[in-house]
Amino acid sequence: MRFVFLIVGVAIILTAGVAWFVSREDGSRTMGKPELSSAERGKFVFRRCQACHAIGENKKLTGPSLAGVINRPSGSIEGYRYSNAMAALSVIWDEKTLTEFLTKPRAFVPGTKMGFGGIKKPQEIQDLLAYLVAEGGLHDAEATQ
Ligand code: HEC
Repeated sequence: MRFVFLIVGVAIILTAGVAWFVSREDGSRTMGKPELSSAERGKFVFRRCQACHAIGENKKLTGPSLAGVINRPSGSIEGYRYSNAMAALSVIWDEKTLTEFLTKPRAFVPGTKMGFGGIKKPQEIQDLLAYLVAEGGLHDAEATQ
């Protein structure tokens, strides 16, 4: 008789254990990380630029400020000493040119002093650009003319 109680007891504990485990699994599935927006993901990509670039203020680090960089002519921040290569480059930094440049900086601007290997994943560059736009990276043509 005792033996039967033991079996029933073990069965109850096992069932409860499995139920707990399954509900825990369910919980973690529904409460998983919320989907981040492109700009939010771009914030993490920007960490690779942060050592050399500021955004959101016109602050010069090793690299020129990226505030208002989108739609700005390349090499155009006054008082920043660009390399000859960057100074000679004449493009507008838009989605296309920034994507090419950031994929392989030294291929797009041979001789640039930007010491950065590049970003291989196109999605990461898109996220980064979304972040730059959200953080005041769009050039305000009227303010600087
Ligand atoms: C190790 C430092 C360093 C890192 C990291 C770096 N940069 Fe640069 N960046 C520079 C320097 C220095 C220049 C100026 C290049 C020149 O004059 O040749 C520059 C130039 C630029 C320019 C051209 C700006 C202009 O006014 O024409 C852009 C755009 C740019 N960087 C974006 C980025 C982004 C985005 C990242 C991150 C994915 C990044 N950089 C990472 C140092 C860096």
